[in-house]
Amino acid sequence: MSQLHVIDHPMIQHKLTIMRDKNTPSSTFRELLYEISLIMGYEVTRDFPLEDVEIETPMEKTVQKRIAGKKVAIVPILRAGLGMVDGLRALIPVARIGHIGLYRDEVTHKPVPYYCKFPKGIENRMVIVTDPMLATGGSACDALDLIKEHGCKDIRLMCLVAAPEGIKAVQEKHPDVDIYVAAVDRCLNENCYIMPGLGDAGDRIFGTK
Ligand code: PRP
Ligand code: URA
Repeated sequence: MSQLHVIDHPMIQHKLTIMRDKNTPSSTFRELLYEISLIMGYEVTRDFPLEDVEIETPMEKTVQKRIAGKKVAIVPILRAGLGMVDGLRALIPVARIGHIGLYRDEVTHKPVPYYCKFPKGIENRMVIVTDPMLATGGSACDALDLIKEHGCKDIRLMCLVAAPEGIKAVQEKHPDVDIYVAAVDRCLNENCYIMPGLGDAGDRIFGTK
């Protein structure tokens, strides 16, 4: 069974409350999503292996630690997942970026694919999939299917707000994928929106409503 990591650091809870507020403007929403993604990134990478390296400080030679060659790909689910890329990339500047385009059909609430582009050799990288909203889990599950079809084995899913329904769906279909979220909300409404949630993440990031 995949592990659920709820990263409820006080700074994240504080910033997320501001994001949820319907009066928060798009520019602030984007800035806070960047900041939360950066903080969450520390937890998503917590188990990265380290190796010894000999260096020379201005004082003497010493053996210190560095990340042991973990190669990373960040794969946002378009559009809203894009809002989490820059924060993660600030932490892992050498990460390659792939893109998966999916939108939820407004009537069926099922994901519709429209774009997919991955960096070469993605199968040898640890993949962090980003999407602020995990509602029914349909988009995340389809994205994870696609990534696995390309041979990836070490995959993590990083979301901001999740509904219990979405977590269950991912855990059932992708038990090997750990899920990182800042909050688990109450439920979905009749339109499959997360309650209390923060509304439509894509629209709030890009100001399209
Ligand atoms: C939102 C969100 C997720 C999806 C979550 O995207 O960013 O991708 O819905 O819902 P699910 O868990 O029920 O699949 P949306 O389809 O609104 O597209 P957008 O990011 O382009 O706005
Ligand atoms: N997509 C969103 O952007 N918000 C939700 O609450 C559910 C799906």
